[in-house]
Amino acid sequence: MICTVGGLAFISFCLRPGLRVVEEGFRQAMLRTIDHAFQRVLLVGIVGLIVSGVYNWVSFAPTYRVLTWHVAGLTLPLGQMLIGTKVLLALVIFAVAFGRAFGFLKDARFWHTFMLHLAATVILLAVILHQVRMEHCRLLAAAAGH
Ligand code: HEM
Repeated sequence: MICTVGGLAFISFCLRPGLRVVEEGFRQAMLRTIDHAFQRVLLVGIVGLIVSGVYNWVSFAPTYRVLTWHVAGLTLPLGQMLIGTKVLLALVIFAVAFGRAFGFLKDARFWHTFMLHLAATVILLAVILHQVRMEHCRLLAAAAGH
């Protein structure tokens, strides 16, 4: 996760502005070489995210099922909604990464920025889910008198 999202952030926020000081041809060649190398890092990172993500999901699934949100007389499955949206957005990022690795989606700058924004949203959803789950555990512990 750190390699993939951190790498994307580094390329967008540091490398691109930094390379503005060098000559255009050299800049393009360097960005292309770095982009190719980074695509391999990204694909390995994705495998790691899928393996660890599925493991976490299977472990926490019983808790997600009981996390609900009562609003306007409705009982919404908050846990399932958060993890479902998070994983769907992650799949969109993975699809873009694979699309780029197979030679589609040529505009590196646009797609890096796109993936970075989606990754930030995925992380925000993960943090909200984590907090909701921990609050549920705290309430259970309090009810059990711990
Ligand atoms: C772009 C891809 C992804 C990013 C950036 C990402 C990021 C994160 C982050 C930051 C956390 C919080 C870790 C913590 O609380 O210490 C997390 C947790 C989690 N992730 Fe992901 N993730 C990604 C993909 C996936 C995928 C593909 C799955 C499932 C197949 C998944 C399932 C989970 C689960 C179940 C948790 C535990 C949430 C909890 O605390 O209840 N993630 N993820």
